[in-house]
Amino acid sequence: MIRLKSPEEIVKIEVAAKIVAEVLMRLSEYAVVGASAYDMEMAATEFIHNRGGTPAFKGYGGYPYTLCVSVNDEIIHGFPSRDKIFAAGDIVSVDCGVLKDGYYGDAAKTFVVDEFLNERDRLLLEKTEESLYEGIRAAVAGNRLGDIGHAVQTCVEGVGFSVIRDYVGHGIGSSLHEDPHIPNFGRQGSGMLLRVGMTLAIEPMVASGQYNVELLEDGWTAVTADGSRAAHFEHDIAIMEDGPRILSRL
Ligand code: MF3
Ligand code: CO
Repeated sequence: MIRLKSPEEIVKIEVAAKIVAEVLMRLSEYAVVGASAYDMEMAATEFIHNRGGTPAFKGYGGYPYTLCVSVNDEIIHGFPSRDKIFAAGDIVSVDCGVLKDGYYGDAAKTFVVDEFLNERDRLLLEKTEESLYEGIRAAVAGNRLGDIGHAVQTCVEGVGFSVIRDYVGHGIGSSLHEDPHIPNFGRQGSGMLLRVGMTLAIEPMVASGQYNVELLEDGWTAVTADGSRAAHFEHDIAIMEDGPRILSRL
């Protein structure tokens, strides 16, 4: 069931989402050679608490950390472990959720450590982020859910990359994951009608190779089956009268 949000509720989601945005901004400092995913975890946890928020992922379905830190062929839900030490050319996807005053924010971003190893990695990050904004542009009242997925997919497949199918975006608000599911693929004009007051987490996950995924033995980390690299960008948006409003941007 989808509950449309009041303007007051949208403000609360925005407060939580802006804390996430600040966390991600600060973590760029840690996407350097020799730093570890655990350094990011510590910094993020402290920052969220200082802002009066609570890490939203920790304990969610048993997930053990504040952050998901997914490196190279890891797509999402990678653990921010101490032995995950960054090397030049790594691409590091960081996903973070915050609960504040009963409402959630959730956003993600992929960093490159030092410099790209090759042009394809650079294009992967560029296109994944671009596809997020294409998806957001399609999130207007009167459009349908499939228009979002179609916009993302078209952007990504145009250059030979694949959108991950096994994980999707979601509604967000007083729960971290609300209806509807938001696939990053779809048919134009298909699916549920988009309405003013919907709050959505749009999150393209894109592989430079094929979209098939495998789960590591930790039960969480999703990697590409073909070992190709993956990127992930996520924003929370609210559908307003005059179009989509990005809540998780500073
Ligand atoms: N942004 C991801 C999602 O919405 C991260 C969730 S991590 C989890 O699925 F631990 F909360 F599952
Ligand atoms: Co999400």
